[in-house]
Amino acid sequence: VATPNLRLTGPTPLPPQVREAQTRQMVSHRSAEFRALLSSVLARLAPLFGTADPVVAFTASGTGGMEASVLNCVRPGGRVLAVSIGHFGERFAQIARIWGAAVETWDVGWGSAADPDELARRIRAAGRLDAVLVTHNEGSTGVLNPLGPIAAAVRSETDALLIVDAVSSVGATEVRMDDWGIDVVVTASQKALMSPPGLALVAVGDRAGAVARSNPAPRFYFDFARMIAAARDGMTAYTPAVSVVYALDAALRIIEAEGAAAVFDRHRRHAAACRARGQKAGLRPCAPALHASPSVTAFALPAGIRAADVRQRLQAEHGVVVSQGRGSWKDSVIRVGHMGWTAADELDAAMDALGEVVGELGAGVDVASPLEANL
Ligand SMILES: Cc1ncc(COP(=O)(O)O)c(C=O)c1O
Repeated sequence: VATPNLRLTGPTPLPPQVREAQTRQMVSHRSAEFRALLSSVLARLAPLFGTADPVVAFTASGTGGMEASVLNCVRPGGRVLAVSIGHFGERFAQIARIWGAAVETWDVGWGSAADPDELARRIRAAGRLDAVLVTHNEGSTGVLNPLGPIAAAVRSETDALLIVDAVSSVGATEVRMDDWGIDVVVTASQKALMSPPGLALVAVGDRAGAVARSNPAPRFYFDFARMIAAARDGMTAYTPAVSVVYALDAALRIIEAEGAAAVFDRHRRHAAACRARGQKAGLRPCAPALHASPSVTAFALPAGIRAADVRQRLQAEHGVVVSQGRGSWKDSVIRVGHMGWTAADELDAAMDALGEVVGELGAGVDVASPLEANL
C-alpha cells in the first residue's frame, strides 16, 4: 500500500527521524538518562511558546491540557469569559462550564477572528473575571486569532488569567507568551510538533502557578504544582509517554536546524499556496485572508457536494487523506492540514487531487450557484 498523503489537521505525518526515534527501547523514566532527555525537551520547547516559564508534559491529548488549565486556574464558581470562534472554542467553554465555572461565552461566529476592541468592551461589561479562555488557531475554521492584540486587550482591562489553546499553532506560528502577557498556553505533540499523539504540553506562567497552588478545587493527576515540581527534577509526576518524548527530541532537532522563523515562514507559504489552489478549484476558504491559519485551511464546498464523498474519493482514488468539517459544518466543509512536516509537492498534489474530485462530483450540480448556500 502506498504511503498516504496525510493532509489531516492532526495527527500530522512523522518525519523519518521522528519515526525512528519513537521505536527506541524503553528506559526508566526516573533514570538520569531519561531525566536529562526530558529536561532538554521541555527546555527546548519553551522558546516555541515564547516563555521562560516551565513547560510541563501531561500524558494526554491537547484537550487534557485544556481541562488541566481550567482545573488548576479556575476555582469552582469562578467567573470565566470564553471567546469562541469555532468548535474548539466551544469545547473550551464547555470544559469550564462542566467544571462548575460561571461561564459567559462570546460567540464570535464560525469563520471570523475575535476583534480585540470588541473583546475589551466585553471584558469591561462582564465585571470581575477570573479567567479568559481564547483559542489561538481555530482548527475547525482555519482562522488564526490575532493573539498579540487579543492578549493586549485582556491585559489592559483585567487581571484575570489569560489561558490560550494553542494546540494547532505552537510550532506553526509565533507565540510570545511572556511578551504578550499570557498566563497559560496549551499545545499537543501531534500537530506542528510532528510527533505522535500522547503529550499535552502546557506552559504555566507565574501568576497561573500561584493561582493553582492556592486553588482548593479537587484534582489529582492534572495538578500543575505537582507537575512543575517534578519537571524541576527532569521528571513527570507519573509515567510519561516515553516514546513521544523520544519523538519530540528528534522533531525539535529538525525545527532547530531549520530555525523557528524559517519554519513559520514555510507554514505561511504553504497556507497561501493551499488557499490559492483551492480557490482556483472553485472552493471558498472559510477564513478571511487576513486571518488565514498557517496550519489548517478549511474550504466550503460548492452546494450539492458532500464532504464525506470528497474525503472518501480523495482517499480511495488519490491516497490523499483530509479532514471534514466539525459540528454543523461537517457535511459542507473540507479541511486541509499543512502543519508540521509538509513538503510543497505533497500539498500541491493533494490540492490537485481535491480540485479533480470536486470537479468530478460537481459535474452533476450547479457549481456556479452561491457557495454560501452550503454554509
Ligand atoms: C485548536 C484546537 N484545540 C484543541 C484540539 C483538540 O486536541 P486533541 O485532539 O489533541 O485533544 C484541536 C485539535 O484539532 C485544535 O485544533
